[in-house]
Amino acid sequence: MGRKVIIAGNWKMNKTGAEGRALVEALLKEVASFDPAEVDIVVCPPFTTLAEVRPVIAGTKVKLGAQNVHWEDHGAFTGEISAAMLKEAGVEYVIIGHSERRQYFGETDETVNRRLQAALKAGLKPIVCIGELLEEREGGRTEEVLRKQIRGGFAGLDAATMAGVVIAYEPVWAIGTGRTATPQIAEETQAFIRAEVAALFGADCAEKVRIQYGGSMKAANARELVAQKDIDGGLIGGAALEASGFAKLISEALAK
Ligand code: PGA
Repeated sequence: MGRKVIIAGNWKMNKTGAEGRALVEALLKEVASFDPAEVDIVVCPPFTTLAEVRPVIAGTKVKLGAQNVHWEDHGAFTGEISAAMLKEAGVEYVIIGHSERRQYFGETDETVNRRLQAALKAGLKPIVCIGELLEEREGGRTEEVLRKQIRGGFAGLDAATMAGVVIAYEPVWAIGTGRTATPQIAEETQAFIRAEVAALFGADCAEKVRIQYGGSMKAANARELVAQKDIDGGLIGGAALEASGFAKLISEALAK
């Protein structure tokens, strides 16, 4: 089987160009010994920092990602960036539907789906975020919420395409709060997500699709989380903003 671990750093609205360059310069030294056959390492800087980070990591084992993409090729969409623009900027991965986009910028399953289709068409590798709010978990609605996000977000994809999509399960109550989901809760939920993918796209696709955990993942808990059967890596916010801590997290994830 062997799904390859994928660890992605979501820098959110942090790091100017100069700061971003310094971070990846330090990171490259820290990850020198990691085997790229064992792990995909991705950094997702803000749009304006992409150009600064790109030449530093070009040809290395650290890959470039963006944090959002629009569904249209071009046009009157103030503040948005197209997939072609990201491709030209050297971007390989793109985060879609992060809970902060859903919460603060009106992202819906429908817009997630449109962004996903555009990213795929351009040859970008999508990391699609799903996850429930605290009140949804406490109200026993986690599975219902995730099922809706999966059905809406991944609508219209064929199984072969879906197999290449990375899903990031990020319980919203665990993001930036220091409150990580226990490995048991994360595993139970991610097994449910994989079963939903199997129901929609078949068992073979579900076996292949990589599901990251996200939400206060750090070096201290990465090993136990990634050791779970259905956790194939992490989408990391706060702990990706400092090189040695991020590298330690990756080494812990690989030590599972
Ligand atoms: P966090 O963020 O690691 O700071 O909780 C994760 C994310 O939002 O992608």
